[in-house]
Amino acid sequence: MLVEVQHLNKSLAAPGGGKPVEILKDLDFTMEAGETAAIVGPSGAGKSTFLNILGALDYADSGIVRVNGLVPSELKGAEMVDFRRRSVGIVFQGHHLLPQCSVLENVIAPSLADRRQARINGEANARELLDALGLAHRLDHRPSELSGGERQRVAVARALAGSPRLLLADEPTGALDRATATQLTGILLDLNRTRKVALLVVTHSRELADRMQSVWELVDGKLLKVS
Ligand SMILES: Nc1ncnc2c1ncn2[C@@H]1O[C@H](COP(=O)(O)OP(=O)(O)OP(=O)(O)O)[C@@H](O)[C@H]1O
Ligand SMILES: [Mg+2]
Repeated sequence: MLVEVQHLNKSLAAPGGGKPVEILKDLDFTMEAGETAAIVGPSGAGKSTFLNILGALDYADSGIVRVNGLVPSELKGAEMVDFRRRSVGIVFQGHHLLPQCSVLENVIAPSLADRRQARINGEANARELLDALGLAHRLDHRPSELSGGERQRVAVARALAGSPRLLLADEPTGALDRATATQLTGILLDLNRTRKVALLVVTHSRELADRMQSVWELVDGKLLKVS
């Protein structure tokens, strides 16, 4: 099992110090290696909160969370760095690229601190990914010099730079027109096949959700498998 979540609970502090709001309640979820899945549900349901927990950007209050055989909340220092590269890659809601860096630099940024050979491999891998994403001719552009769809593809390349087992994508097509969204969905599915990376996308798009192997709906703090 690639992702195993049992009895997950998560509350977030209410602004102004009020009673914390329960967002995720006794939530269960599983995903196999190489699988594709979508999470749908209303705005504010807790979808991003859940992805953040899987990606070790936030922690559960209680329950079991295991990703790629690891417990994110127990990882320290180098283990966490390794988890963020080799276990999960994240495409955020909004691309979060470094504005002053070129396309290529954005994708190789995680490997810049590596030793020489690893850095060289990292750059070769980044070029290959950017080529697969149709961005070989945009390597020296800054994010502000790209279209929205191109920026989103750079974000995908960066998330996959460490060859993770799981790609978490929060509304990857949210800001794109329909044709560009369909194209990006096709690219994500190709990468799923060729790189054996499992895909977990959060989306409001029925079209994107329907192209994943399973669809889960987040309602009342729980994930229900709807297809
Ligand atoms: N840092 C925070 N502190 C307190 N409450 C928060 C915080 N971040 C999010 N929330 C609240 O938690 C709930 C879940 O937020 P989350 O971002 O997970 O929703 P979502 O399902 O991703 O929604 P959307 O589809 O709009 O992106 C929302 O009601 C939100 O207002
Ligand atoms: Mg969200």
